[in-house]
Amino acid sequence: MANTQETAEVELAGGVRIPQVGFGTFMIPASETQAAVEQALAIGYRHIDTAAAYLNEEGVGRALAAFGREGVFVTTKLPNYRQGYDETLHAFEDSRSKLGIDVVDLYLIHWPSPARDAYPDSFRAMQRLRDEGAVRAIGVCNFLPEHLDRLERECGELPCVDQIESHPRYWQPELDAFCQGKGIRIEAYSPLGHGQDIASEPVEAAAAAHGVSCGQVVLRWHLQKGHVVIPKSVHESRMRENLDLGGFELTQAEMDAISALNSEGMRVGNDPHTFEKDQSPEDMAARGTATL
Ligand SMILES: NC(=O)c1ccc[n+]([C@@H]2O[C@H](COP(=O)([O-])OP(=O)(O)OC[C@H]3O[C@@H](n4cnc5c(N)ncnc54)[C@H](OP(=O)(O)O)[C@@H]3O)[C@@H](O)[C@H]2O)c1
Repeated sequence: MANTQETAEVELAGGVRIPQVGFGTFMIPASETQAAVEQALAIGYRHIDTAAAYLNEEGVGRALAAFGREGVFVTTKLPNYRQGYDETLHAFEDSRSKLGIDVVDLYLIHWPSPARDAYPDSFRAMQRLRDEGAVRAIGVCNFLPEHLDRLERECGELPCVDQIESHPRYWQPELDAFCQGKGIRIEAYSPLGHGQDIASEPVEAAAAAHGVSCGQVVLRWHLQKGHVVIPKSVHESRMRENLDLGGFELTQAEMDAISALNSEGMRVGNDPHTFEKDQSPEDMAARGTATL
């Protein structure tokens, strides 16, 4: 099938446009990242999602240098152990240098880490980076309404993106509605439930009806909800499939049936209320690749 989705973009608050389908890089080992990202770019992805904590920004940077950075939307994230105003500015310089680019398209706070009590200061540093032109848009991941409200109160601004765990069996409808109501774009991470939330009765029925795969139905469901998606795969056929989402449309009944799969116990990642790991290289290495 031809890739028809690669140029579809949506607008973030503030006017920056982002390709609605991106390529996730979590758990791609550093030694394999350049090849995987180059392959994704060759297939047609124009949005790459990485993070300092993934320990693979250099590989993303090498792929961008080889392929060409022009027209590629690049996101990276501030790890917990570098939260705070000054440290955020230093951490950003480290990420920018590893990525080998002048301007980062989207810079995100990776977790609220409420016990650190530093996310408003971190966000203020990001506002400065944005105002100085080093980043085009600023946002957060894993923020709950209480954290978003605090940013609005103390920083005078809401993030334009909240990157949250979202897949059919755990799409956080209340948080989703809160963000969409405030003009905060949802970026669905683990959009396929980390590979564990692809097949289900309503998804299989829609896949059969439209002649597509279950993974394509799940990703299309996200797109029709207005989500940006960042599926990860190291297999070329899946990379292609995950980008090829433009040739069919789910009916309202199919959308509703898939949305009804939501269930509180189906989280595959960590809980933002309690996730306080420091995400340093030592911490990430100690935890291996088994945890998000
Ligand atoms: N902000 C955060 O806190 C946070 C947390 C987690 C993830 N993320 C971001 O979100 C991205 C995606 O999340 P994720 O990697 O956890 O999970 P995901 O994209 O939901 O699922 C990835 C898994 O599904 C498999 N897969 C991919 N496409 C498939 C398809 N079409 N059919 C069947 N299996 C398929 C992949 O295997 P193969 O690679 O073997 O194909 C991989 O094991 C990450 O890479 C990262 O960039 C952010």
